[in-house]
Amino acid sequence: MRTRVRDPRLVEPGFGTLNINLFLLAGSRFDGVPQALTLADDPGMTFNPEVAVHVPDDNAAFCRRLPIGRNRIPRWRQRRQAPRTAVNSPLSCRQNMGCLRSAASLSMHPLAAQNFAALTEFRRWLDDSHLAEVLSLYEPYGEEKREAVIRRDAAFLPEPLASLTRYFVLGDKLAEEQLDSHLPAAIRETIACLGLDVGRHRLIRHLDLWIFCERLTPAVDLYHGDDSFGLSRLMLPGRGRSLDLCAGVGTQALLCAQTAESVVAVEKQDKARLFFWLNAVVNGMHDRVEFRQGDFVDAVAGERFDHIVCNPPLLPVPRDVAYPLAGHGGPDGQDFTRRLLSALPELLNAGGSCHIIGTMFGGPLGPDLKDWEDTAKSAQIDLLAILPFRSSMSSPSAPMFQSLVSSAVLYGEHQGRDPAVVRPQVEESYLRHFRETGATHFYSYLLCATRRAGSRGVFRFTRQFMESRWMWTR
Ligand SMILES: C[S@@+](CC[C@H](N)C(=O)[O-])C[C@H]1O[C@@H](n2cnc3c(N)ncnc32)[C@H](O)[C@@H]1O
Repeated sequence: MRTRVRDPRLVEPGFGTLNINLFLLAGSRFDGVPQALTLADDPGMTFNPEVAVHVPDDNAAFCRRLPIGRNRIPRWRQRRQAPRTAVNSPLSCRQNMGCLRSAASLSMHPLAAQNFAALTEFRRWLDDSHLAEVLSLYEPYGEEKREAVIRRDAAFLPEPLASLTRYFVLGDKLAEEQLDSHLPAAIRETIACLGLDVGRHRLIRHLDLWIFCERLTPAVDLYHGDDSFGLSRLMLPGRGRSLDLCAGVGTQALLCAQTAESVVAVEKQDKARLFFWLNAVVNGMHDRVEFRQGDFVDAVAGERFDHIVCNPPLLPVPRDVAYPLAGHGGPDGQDFTRRLLSALPELLNAGGSCHIIGTMFGGPLGPDLKDWEDTAKSAQIDLLAILPFRSSMSSPSAPMFQSLVSSAVLYGEHQGRDPAVVRPQVEESYLRHFRETGATHFYSYLLCATRRAGSRGVFRFTRQFMESRWMWTR
């Protein structure tokens, strides 16, 4: 079957346009768009304005084989390693100093090293608290809605579970008597030593990991969001020497460390170092991970890996619009994907694989993927692009358009700017971008790269966005 579609080239225009809100997007939900197609690859297709897309007859079978959604056996059920760390009894800050030598990595943050034994005990105490079982009930996607449902349910939980949920997960302050009766003194001391502040920080149950990160606000630095779950569900188990680019507090690096021999985690913000090590020790992975503060692929120049994962700042944001580092993916959202793809031949060992997620703009039938097709061929790397989600941007009242604008406005407000001034500027930036490129829709993607011996670089893609509800699942 051959279908003629209009697919305007959406190459970066040089000046940015869009701007999203991680905070709002995290809770966004979109209804299905029925006219979407599901297309598979054709090595002969082009992406010039008038595009001939070939839909192979075995497209349905191809799509069924995709490693997404329910077709996958959850990795966290397939394997579970006991933390290698011996469990010590709770120790005070001063006593913990004696455990410095048992902290395996030289690059471990000193506070994590000083609290090493106490953090290990923290993990044991968390596991015994039944918080994990309670949190396993909730959908990973839709941050705001999840918190609202947890808050409602917490009223029906027995103590101390109700208080612990409100304290660690929802960030509620507890009265001194409640803290005294529900939190052992050693745990309270560890929290104080580490400077954990439940108003600002929170505890996430990420598959079978405990992750400490910041609360989701328009100015969040130590990020965890829907996309963190999206990448974790996509990626294969870590193996050999693994690399997590844009590691943040270590969410993906620690998942990789469950099965990989070693993991290098690269993150630009040095302030993530403490939380990275805190999470590494709490989850018993400290002896397999390394935190490297640096700029993306430059931090590992000259090194090779068997497995690479990357949840980068992935939202399209005009260069002149202020936006949190965790979300600013450049004018077309592609800054990091482009950099990673061009570095991949030097980074990936033979037989190695890489998973990256992102967002981009496109026409009604999809974005322009010509660059990826060219990269696959020139780098001789197989690429599979899965597009699970699409949302219309054709009018300023479209929900995604509003999400993009509002996020920048909220961040501007956080920086002390007048929202009444920022909003029209940001809206105009979006509209200009759409006028210049002909883009009408916003897409999310999961990109899988594999370096196979003898492959000349196969590019495939599939669009699964019919009836999309969430950005990262169906
Ligand atoms: C969307 S967050 C992802 C965090 C984490 N990997 C996860 O999945 O939850 C993107 C992260 O990239 C980091 N980052 C931004 N620019 C970077 C750069 N040039 N090099 C390395 N990390 C960068 C941000 O600080 C932020 O922690």
